[in-house]
Amino acid sequence: MSVAKADENRKVTTHRLTEMKARGEKISMLTAYDYSMASIIDQAGMDVILVGDSASNVMAGNVTTLPITLDQMIYHGKSVMKAVKRALVVVDLPFGTYQGNSKEALASAIRVMKETHADCIKLEGGVEIKESIERILCAGIPIMGHLGLTPQSINKFGTYTVRAREEAEAEKLISDAHMLEEIGCFAIVLEKIPAKLAARVAQELTIPIIGIGAGGGVDGQVLVMHDMLGINKEFSPRFLRRYANLFDEITHAVEGYIADVKSSDFPNEQEQY
Ligand code: KIV
Repeated sequence: MSVAKADENRKVTTHRLTEMKARGEKISMLTAYDYSMASIIDQAGMDVILVGDSASNVMAGNVTTLPITLDQMIYHGKSVMKAVKRALVVVDLPFGTYQGNSKEALASAIRVMKETHADCIKLEGGVEIKESIERILCAGIPIMGHLGLTPQSINKFGTYTVRAREEAEAEKLISDAHMLEEIGCFAIVLEKIPAKLAARVAQELTIPIIGIGAGGGVDGQVLVMHDMLGINKEFSPRFLRRYANLFDEITHAVEGYIADVKSSDFPNEQEQY
C-alpha cells in the first residue's frame, strides 16, 4: 500500500484535524445517527461524523433539539460507533445535561465516552458554560464547541434567523471563540452567521472552524445528513445544497412495491422457495 493510501485509511484524530487546517486541507463533516448510514458515510471517506442532537428532529420527529435525552443520544452514538472505522466520531451532549453545573456536565460527558466509545463530545455555548467545559477537558475528554445559532437556545432566540449580524453579538462570538481555543477545545462549529465574521474567526484561531451556513472562509463544512440527501423536503435554508432527492426516490420505490404486492406481481417464481 502506498504511503498516501495508508494515510487515507488512517483513523482521523483531533490532532489530524489541526494538521489539516495547518496545511489548508478542508474538513468534511456530516451527521449520522444509525449503524447503516454511518457505515456508508464512513466508507465514503468522511473526516468527521457528528451524532448530532438534530436526531431529535430527524429521527424522533420533535420540533426542536430540546427533548432528546442523554440515554437516546447514547443509543445513537453506540449504533454509529459499531459502524465507523476511520472517521472521528463526535457525540452531542443534549440540552439540560451540562448547563446546570460542571459536575453534572462531567458526569454526562463521561457516560457518553464510556457507553458509546466515541472519540469526543460537542456542546453549545461560550463563557456561560466555561466551567463545565474546563471540567470535562480536565478529565481528558476532547470538546468541539458550537457558537452562533445554537439550536438548544432557540427559545431564547425566538427565531432561526442568522445570528451575530449586530456588532455586540459578533464581538461576543469572537471573544467566546478565543476563549474556547485558549481553554483547550480542539475545534468549533459556527452555525448560521455572516460569512465574513466566520472567516475572521477561522483566520484568528489555530483550531479548525467548521461551518454550517457560515460561508466558505472556514476550515470545513458540516450538514445534517437528512437535509443534504433530500430525505427532508420541508427544510430549505439558503445554505443547504442537496446532493440527492431521496424523498422522491424512496417514495417511487415504496409505491412500486405496494403496486407489485397488490397486483400479485411480487413475489414471482424466482422469488420463492
Ligand atoms: O445536531 C446537529 O446536527 C448539529 C449540526 C447542525 C452542527 O449540531
